[in-house]
Amino acid sequence: MTDLPKAPGPVRATPVTLPGWQVDFVHWPYPSVIAHRGGGRLAPENTLAALRLGAAHGHTMFEFDVKLTGDGKPILMHDASLERTTNGWGLAGTASLSEIAQLDAGAWCGPAWAGEPVPIYANVVAWLLANRKLANVEIKPSPGRESETGAVVAMASAMAWQGCEIPPLLSSFSPEALAAAQRVTPALPRALLLHRWPSDWLAQLRRLECVAIDVNHEILDRERIQQARGEGFRVLTYTPNDPARVEQLREWGVDCVITDAIDLIKP
Ligand code: G3P
Ligand code: MG
Repeated sequence: MTDLPKAPGPVRATPVTLPGWQVDFVHWPYPSVIAHRGGGRLAPENTLAALRLGAAHGHTMFEFDVKLTGDGKPILMHDASLERTTNGWGLAGTASLSEIAQLDAGAWCGPAWAGEPVPIYANVVAWLLANRKLANVEIKPSPGRESETGAVVAMASAMAWQGCEIPPLLSSFSPEALAAAQRVTPALPRALLLHRWPSDWLAQLRRLECVAIDVNHEILDRERIQQARGEGFRVLTYTPNDPARVEQLREWGVDCVITDAIDLIKP
C-alpha cells in the first residue's frame, strides 16, 4: 500500500499577521506635524517632488492619497477624476497604469513642475524608506471600490514596511476601506477620517480597532478632543494652516496636525 500524502497543517482561523512592528501606541511613534499631500501648497500635491520639498523643509512624515488605477495598481492621487491635477481627462479609476504613467501631474501647479509624473505608490514607499521618512497613507477609493482599495493598499503597505520599526498610519474617510485593511493587515495602525461627527463615531473607532481619529479642524473643539483621548484614541487634525490655530489645537490636546503650511508649521 502506498503512503497517503501528508495532511496539510492546521488551518489558520485568523488572518496572517505580518511581523515587524512592536510599536507601542501608548507612546505615539509619530511626529506632531505631518506635511499634507507631501508638500502642502508649495508643490504639486501627491507627487515625489512634493515629498522632496516637504523633506527640504524639515518634515519627517507625509500624508498622501492613494487610489487604484483601472487595472488595480495603487497610485497617488486625490481626486476621482484626472482633470484638476494632471493633463489627462476622465476617471483615474478606469485608466490603466500605462495611461496614467504618461500624464503630467506637475504643470498645473506651475511651469517649474512640468513633467512631474503621477507616482506609483511602490516608488513613493521606496523613497520614504530610503530617506527614513514616515507615512500617513490616506486610502482614497474611487467610488464603489472601497474594500478592494483598502485591502490592496493595506497589503502593499504591510509587505513594503515589513521589518521596519515604525509602520505607516493608514487612514480613510471610508469605514469600508478601513474594515478591509483591518481584515487583511490587522497589525497596521488605522485612523478614521471625519469631516462631521456621526452619532456612532466612537463605536466606529472601536469596531475598526483604530488608534486615532483624524478630524477636520473646523469641527474640533476641546471637549471632543478630550473625549476621544479619554477613550484611548489619539487625535489628528487636518488641515490647519494658521500657526495661531495650530497652537490652540495643541493646547486643547491634539496629537498631530496635518498642514499645508509646510514652511510655517515646522516639525
Ligand atoms: O488625510 C487628511 C486629509 O488629507 C483629508 O482630506 O480631502 O485633503 O484628502 P483630503
Ligand atoms: Mg488626503
